[in-house]
Amino acid sequence: MENKEPTIVFATNNAHKIEEAREILRGKIKVKSLSDIGCHDDIPETAETLTGNALIKARWVKEKYGYDCFADDTGLMVEALGGAPGVYSARYAGDHCSPVDNIKLLLEKMEGEKNRKAKFVTVVALILGDNEYIFEGEVKGLISETHSGVNGFGYDPVFVPENSSLSFAEMTSEDKNAISHRGRAMRKLADFLTRN
Ligand code: IMP
Repeated sequence: MENKEPTIVFATNNAHKIEEAREILRGKIKVKSLSDIGCHDDIPETAETLTGNALIKARWVKEKYGYDCFADDTGLMVEALGGAPGVYSARYAGDHCSPVDNIKLLLEKMEGEKNRKAKFVTVVALILGDNEYIFEGEVKGLISETHSGVNGFGYDPVFVPENSSLSFAEMTSEDKNAISHRGRAMRKLADFLTRN
């Protein structure tokens, strides 16, 4: 019998994100990556908001390739830094910088700062036919004074989620995904997709 499982494109080639989305949508909706649809474009992320960047990526795929799709964008917002690095989290220490450079700069800027409050925010933009939808997930926490742990990526070694004594980099991916910004946004997306 023909496989009637609906398909949606996740506008990313990040293998970890694709795997996470497939896990959440397993048995309900098939998730394809950008390379699965032959898209190798370097999609610009030039907006000044997370929502703007997520929409750029989702619209790019819809307009050029014709697929229903979703895209995500994430930022770390640090209260004492007025919400920085925010939408610029990936390149906080400059274009082509490494996660280690970003963490180093962040800890320098936070040196002596008593207010360590921060949050990760993920925005997911979904395009289904002619309609656009936005889902958000966030997790509050603190920026630690030194890094700890080796799991995860990005700012994980210096982010301690609320009600935890461990940094994200000290948690298993399962424990992190259960409370993370992206896990929360992706589960909202999954709930919506399975209802519509
Ligand atoms: P992206 O929009 O998912 O590519 O995220 C932008 C940047 O935010 C990444 O390059 C990381 O620096 C940071 N980031 C996003 N998600 C996480 C996370 O789960 N842990 C730590 N850093 C993250």
